[in-house]
Amino acid sequence: MTPRIISNTTTGTTDRQLDALLALLSDKPMLVISGVKIASEIGVSRSTVWRWITRLRELGVRVKGHPRSGYHIERVPDILVPNILRRGLAGTPFARRIHHFFKVDSTNRIALELGQHNEPHGALVVAEEQSAGRGRTGRLWLSEKSNGIYMSILLRPQLTPVQAPALTLAAGLAARDAVTEQSGLQADIRWPNDVLLNGKKLCGILTEMYSEPDRIRFVVVGIGLNVNHAKMPAAIANIATSLRIETGRVHERVELLVRLLRCFESYYNQLCTSGPAPIAARFLEVSSYATGKRVRVTAAQETFLCTTAGLDASGLLRVKRDDGRVETLLAADISEATDAAHN
Ligand code: BTN
Repeated sequence: MTPRIISNTTTGTTDRQLDALLALLSDKPMLVISGVKIASEIGVSRSTVWRWITRLRELGVRVKGHPRSGYHIERVPDILVPNILRRGLAGTPFARRIHHFFKVDSTNRIALELGQHNEPHGALVVAEEQSAGRGRTGRLWLSEKSNGIYMSILLRPQLTPVQAPALTLAAGLAARDAVTEQSGLQADIRWPNDVLLNGKKLCGILTEMYSEPDRIRFVVVGIGLNVNHAKMPAAIANIATSLRIETGRVHERVELLVRLLRCFESYYNQLCTSGPAPIAARFLEVSSYATGKRVRVTAAQETFLCTTAGLDASGLLRVKRDDGRVETLLAADISEATDAAHN
């Protein structure tokens, strides 16, 4: 069932009380709290507390029960619930309105709906799992339960629609920086916004905009990042990867998400004060795809081979065709051209 969005809530889902329970238990992880105290603090019955504890255990949170004395958790769980995220995001615009779902069709769909209902700038929609995660050009985004980061950011920037593509670049740069900070590995970025590790896709971004000819009403930047997938499905294993596969260890999603949004805030502020040029320049510095790379371009009208030739000041990719013509791409998919593809 598609969750209904309730406006004017801080978490936006019926999981708000679970969030409160998690926050209570995570506040002092080693402390045993009695069922009676939990029930009275959250304002529910003891049997409801018991049901929620069961639910948390199903979600992989290790809640220990002590006969007669109560419950405790051994460590703060890696669940992206508002009360836990808010601590890491304090001071950013993303700490104010966090909508968390244990399961949803698509966080982008929810964020677009929130945008239509006047949800403020910075609102965040986060899910543990998506049943219909949307990728670019109508693809589906693999959204396995609790293994990835699936989130959408609602923005109301003072930018013109022409400047909007730079938001996508900013998100890609932020994801790249966060992955590099987290893992110590040099992540690459493929225009417009795929983050790659060892040549395989780790993170994808889907930006959807609602605008008038000269004014953006709002933008939703959706980010999918493969974090703790032990292996990728066979059909995409040659092109996609996870941070766990590349580093051989499990990563805390809360930490990575906070890093990503903090990096994004800084690029976003730069974009709003100085326009797209510095973002485009940074992209050029860190992306192996931005210049001199032999690529296959798949655009709406045609597919062709060419060589990348830098970015223009608004962040659009320039490519040089084999007949010498230089073109600027507004939207396209690019992939590294293999030798076979040359022929
Ligand atoms: C791509 O094709 O590379 C873009 C993938 C974007 C996936 C993310 S997951 C969170 C957000 N919600 C969606 O439905 N899609 C984006």
